[in-house]
Amino acid sequence: MAEGSRAYAGAVASVPEHLEHLRIEQVVAGGDGLARDPSGRVVFVPGVLPGERVDVRFVSAKRDFARGEIVRVVEPSPDRVAAPCDARARGCGGCDWQHVAPASQLALKADVVREALRRTARLPEAQVDTGGSVSSWGYRTSMRVAVDRHGAVALRRPRTNEPVALEHCLVAHPALDELVHSARFVGADEVSLRVSATTGERSAWWTRAHPGDEVMVSGLPDDVATGSDAVVHERVAGRELRVSGESFFQSGLEAAELLVRTVADVAGAALIGAAEVVDAYGGVGLFSTTLVPDTAHVTLVEGSAAACDDARHNLRAARSRHEVVRSSVERWRPDRADLVIADPSRQGLGPEAARALAATEAPVLVLVGCDPVAYARDAGLLAACGYRLVHSVAIDLFPQSHHVEVVGRFERDG
Ligand SMILES: C[S@@+](CC[C@H](N)C(=O)[O-])C[C@H]1O[C@@H](n2cnc3c(N)ncnc32)[C@H](O)[C@@H]1O
Repeated sequence: MAEGSRAYAGAVASVPEHLEHLRIEQVVAGGDGLARDPSGRVVFVPGVLPGERVDVRFVSAKRDFARGEIVRVVEPSPDRVAAPCDARARGCGGCDWQHVAPASQLALKADVVREALRRTARLPEAQVDTGGSVSSWGYRTSMRVAVDRHGAVALRRPRTNEPVALEHCLVAHPALDELVHSARFVGADEVSLRVSATTGERSAWWTRAHPGDEVMVSGLPDDVATGSDAVVHERVAGRELRVSGESFFQSGLEAAELLVRTVADVAGAALIGAAEVVDAYGGVGLFSTTLVPDTAHVTLVEGSAAACDDARHNLRAARSRHEVVRSSVERWRPDRADLVIADPSRQGLGPEAARALAATEAPVLVLVGCDPVAYARDAGLLAACGYRLVHSVAIDLFPQSHHVEVVGRFERDG
C-alpha cells in the first residue's frame, strides 16, 4: 500500500455515496487541492498535493464547485510524507500540511502566491521569489488556543467549532509544549500562551467562557506569569522587545528574525536614505526598533492599546526620534514619508488603509501580507493609488500549515 493510502486508511467511516477518481491540478489559497470532476466542476480537496490521483468522496456540492475528502491516494506525489502528529490524526486543524515534505512546502506556498496575484490582481507575470523558512518543528512561541470540556489545551477541527485536545504540539517551542501538555483551564473560552525563546519567560492569559464564572487553572508551573499585562522579552536582531499578553508577536523568535531580514532586503536602499519612515500596523515595534536607522524619524501606527504601550517602551529604549500613534490606519491622516512598511492582519489593507498609506506619497512601500488573496487584493488597491508591485518574496513562518507570509516592494509611479 502506498504511503498516502496508509495515511488516510480509515479516514472515511461510511461507504461513500458519491465517489470520483480525480487528479489534483494545484493547491490554492487556504491550502486545499483543486481538481475538476468529469463535468469540469471545480472540486476542493484537503490533504492533497499537485499531480496526485485520489479517490474522493463528495461532502458538499453546489453548481459551481464541490468539496471532497480523500478516501484513498491512488498515486501519491513524491513530496508526500506521513503526518507524524497524533493530534492531526484525531482531527486537529492546526497543521494542515503535515503531509507535505518540509523541503517542498515553501515552493508550493510561493505557487499559491503567484496564483493569487494572477487571478485576483491580474498580474500573470508577477515575480515571486522564495526567501527562507523557519525550523520545521518546535518554532512556535505563541499560541492562542481553545480548551476542551476538561480544560485541556485544544485546537479546532476544520470547519467546526469542536475542540481537539493536544497532548503535545510538535510545532510548539519545548517550553510552550510543556504548558500545552500540563496546564488545564476549566471554564475558559480561549487561552493565550507565550514563551520567550530569549529569556525563557512564560505567560498565560485567558477569557472566560461565561461572564462571572471562575476559571479553574491547574498544572501551570510557578514561573508562568498570568494576566493580560504579563510580559515576556525577546531579543530580535540585537534589540530587546517587551511583549505583553494582549500584544501581537510573530510565530516565534526565528520568524521575527527572518521577517526583519526579508523586509530589510526588500526595502533595500530605501531604508538607508529615509528621513521619515511609517511603520503601519507596527505592533510592539518589531520593524521600528530593528531595521530603521536611527537617523530617520519613525511614525508607528497601531490600533491596539497594549501593543502601543509596548511599542512606546521598546522605541524609547531603541531610538531617539519616533512617535507612536494609537489609531486605525484607515482613520489616520499621514504626513509625507520616504518609506512605508505596512504589516496588516489577515484581512489585509482594504481600500481606506491603502488610500491613507498612499497619501504619504512615499516612493517605496513595503507590504507584508499573511493571506495571499488579501495581499493580491491589496496589490490591486495600491495600483489604483499609483503604487506598482515590483517583486514579492514568499517566506515560511508557519511550516506544516498552508500559511504563507509575503513581503512585497511597491514603487510609486512617476
Ligand atoms: C500582523 S500584526 C503585525 C505587527 C508588527 N508589525 C510585528 O511584526 O510584530 C498586525 C498589527 O496590526 C494591528 N492592527 C490590526 N488592525 C489594525 C488597524 N486597522 N489599524 C491599525 N492597527 C491594526 C494589530 O493590533 C497588530 O498589532
